[in-house]
Amino acid sequence: MRILGIETSCDETAVAVYDGHAGLLAHRVYSQVESHARYGGVVPELASRDHIRKLLPLLDETLQAAATDRLMLDGVAYTRGPGLAGALLVGASVARSLAYALGIPALGIHHMEAHLLAPMLEEPPPSFPFVALLVSGGHTMLVQVAGVGRYRLLGESLDDAAGEAFDKIAKLLGLPYPGGPALQRLAEQGNSERFQFPRPMTDRPGLDFSFSGLKTYTLYTLRNADTSDDQIRADTARAFQDAVIDTLYLKCRRALRQTGAKRLVVAGGVSANGPLRERLAELTHALGARIYYPRLEFCTDNAAMVAYAGWLRLSAGEHGSLAFDIATRWPLTDLRAPSTR
Ligand code: KG4
Ligand code: ZN
Repeated sequence: MRILGIETSCDETAVAVYDGHAGLLAHRVYSQVESHARYGGVVPELASRDHIRKLLPLLDETLQAAATDRLMLDGVAYTRGPGLAGALLVGASVARSLAYALGIPALGIHHMEAHLLAPMLEEPPPSFPFVALLVSGGHTMLVQVAGVGRYRLLGESLDDAAGEAFDKIAKLLGLPYPGGPALQRLAEQGNSERFQFPRPMTDRPGLDFSFSGLKTYTLYTLRNADTSDDQIRADTARAFQDAVIDTLYLKCRRALRQTGAKRLVVAGGVSANGPLRERLAELTHALGARIYYPRLEFCTDNAAMVAYAGWLRLSAGEHGSLAFDIATRWPLTDLRAPSTR
């Protein structure tokens, strides 16, 4: 089966073609970063307009790169949610119309399931069962994964997602949007000894997260410091990043011990963070477990993961109805294993 994947949940327009025999044939991402940078964050209306402008040309370009005529497609997978309503609608309507015109099935994919399955595009892919740490701009979750669509939520953020906290602190530090990669770079110049930030919710049992207190702590630290001093800004970035990484480390350790899992999958935009990857690799090594990541370009939003998740479900016989819908909020645990509906 050859599946077209479309991702438009936030500020990346992305298209990919995945083939069951040949693997990933092509993928393209158009990042809207420049459109949103001057506003310091994603402007939903601008995102929708940019998706409308970019999606069809990107579709043509990707099909060409994949040497795939539209008539060779067996299905279309698109991100149904969670995400921004207007942005999701662009992808959903293009995917549904194309599938309808070609007489092939279209399937709405859960954005976080796509992130969770992205490491399966790598060699060697993780086998089930595993524990997944999903860390993106909108979500921070620990999930016990028994198979495709068989998800048990172990813990999640009660307030800000890890990526959101990175973005907000980056903004306070005067760094450009998106903040995560810029904050990581600034933290490289920082000294870890100057500040010690709290590790939220690690002193009590459970696997939930909370990053808003850490954000406030960082805000007060900056208020009381000379922020014109580059070293102080770098030290703050370092202390903040260390605290987030340590918190994720401790919760992953707890989750692996609690479930007895021997495989840890880390995905979502924040999984591109180098020091986080190093720390979690140390953890799995110490526990005799293995760690799996997507390649860096598939940590952040892309359509390869959507095409792949779509292929897994469509090739198992699942297909959606002809009606097109989106879901701006959509609990991951509502998903079921692939089924013919
Ligand atoms: O998965 P993603 O591309 O979009 C969502 O589904 O939200 O994640 C984007 C998030 C942003 O908050 C961004 O700042 C963060 O991932 N991010 C990083 C890094 N690269 C991206 N955070 C920390 N370090 C990075 N290197
Ligand atoms: Zn994402």
